[in-house]
Amino acid sequence: MSELMARLDKVVMQTYGRTPIMLVRGEGCRVYDEGGREYLDFVAGIAVCALGHAHPKLVAAVCEQMGRLTHVSNLYYTAPQVAVAEKLVDSSFADRVFFCNSGAEANEGAIKLARAYAKKTGRPGAFWVICMERSFHGRTLATLSATGQDKIKKGFEPVVEGFMHAPFGDLDAVEVLLDETIAAVLVEPILGEGGVVIPADDYLPGLRDLCDRTGALLMFDEIQTGLGRTGRLWGHEHWSVFPDVMTLAKGLAGGLPMGAVLATEKAASALGPGMHATTFGAGPVVCAAAGVVLEELIDHGLIEHAARMGETLRRGLEELQSSFPRRIQEVRGKGLLCAVELVGPGAGVVQAMVERGFLVNCTQENVLRFLPPLIVTEVEIEALLGVLPEVL
Ligand SMILES: Cc1ncc(COP(=O)(O)O)c(C=O)c1O
Repeated sequence: MSELMARLDKVVMQTYGRTPIMLVRGEGCRVYDEGGREYLDFVAGIAVCALGHAHPKLVAAVCEQMGRLTHVSNLYYTAPQVAVAEKLVDSSFADRVFFCNSGAEANEGAIKLARAYAKKTGRPGAFWVICMERSFHGRTLATLSATGQDKIKKGFEPVVEGFMHAPFGDLDAVEVLLDETIAAVLVEPILGEGGVVIPADDYLPGLRDLCDRTGALLMFDEIQTGLGRTGRLWGHEHWSVFPDVMTLAKGLAGGLPMGAVLATEKAASALGPGMHATTFGAGPVVCAAAGVVLEELIDHGLIEHAARMGETLRRGLEELQSSFPRRIQEVRGKGLLCAVELVGPGAGVVQAMVERGFLVNCTQENVLRFLPPLIVTEVEIEALLGVLPEVL
């Protein structure tokens, strides 16, 4: 471990298990450590750096905006926010957007909106949100309470009241819970941290029907699945079903912190002046970045590219599975949200990949997750597939 890493560990709270490399620079899908060693990045800041590292258009837009106007708060109108809000609304089911700074904060906003909506529509007792087992919604008190994994809550009890959990993929379990006390159903279209789990085709449409029957809002947490990650702009497009509310973050500003709550006019009307706010939300600089990300995704073919690269990666991983049936239990994924469930723990594989110059992530102890920048090329995917047999 270098001296710099030791200094960091001495003064920063020890909440992360870090891989002992100090990264200092990035370009495209590659990052470099302090010794100049190159790594192919199949983590992308945990599905954040959609355009890779140091994307020239992103850098130019952010630098230009920094020199013009950095921050004034939402007490005033700022021009970059207009374009981003319009683009999100024009390209989704939503009529309105609330901007914030992270995924957890977006889900907090959605949960508040659900409670406010229930009260506004004459159901003051409806404050419960049905969430799913194995889900992940963030680390704030309300979002860890919404999260369906005990390890995330441990040590912080009592959790916030108002969340109940059903097994992911089980429509009957939601139907049993869904009574007049339920404000919303909150679900990731594909479980991300939970191990890249794809539901049966009738699941999300079934949740839509159930919510329509009772007046509960259907809220999709697309923080990991949104913005081209699955080969479509929104994960829910794979099932042709629309939510009332959707949360975003991760790739939205290409590496700068930005989150968003998108909602239909009807749902959004529950939040009036003064009911929700943030100092930093949608500042000019993150909006300049988001403008570039959305343009690349929607207008310059990046979604289609991600879908093609996702196919290449998935096919390669499936071939790998047939070569290593006793090491690989299952290959799952859509687009560039791809995973390999190993037989046995994945930490050693992650370490061996780092030693060979590849950054990959492991979730749920045995699920290798591949989340490269959406600009990843076939050559870079082949390089990953080339090294995995030796490591396995
Ligand atoms: C589906 C989902 N929701 C919420 C979050 C929380 O986002 P953040 O870490 O930006 O608060 C994450 C982060 O991994 C996520 O994957």
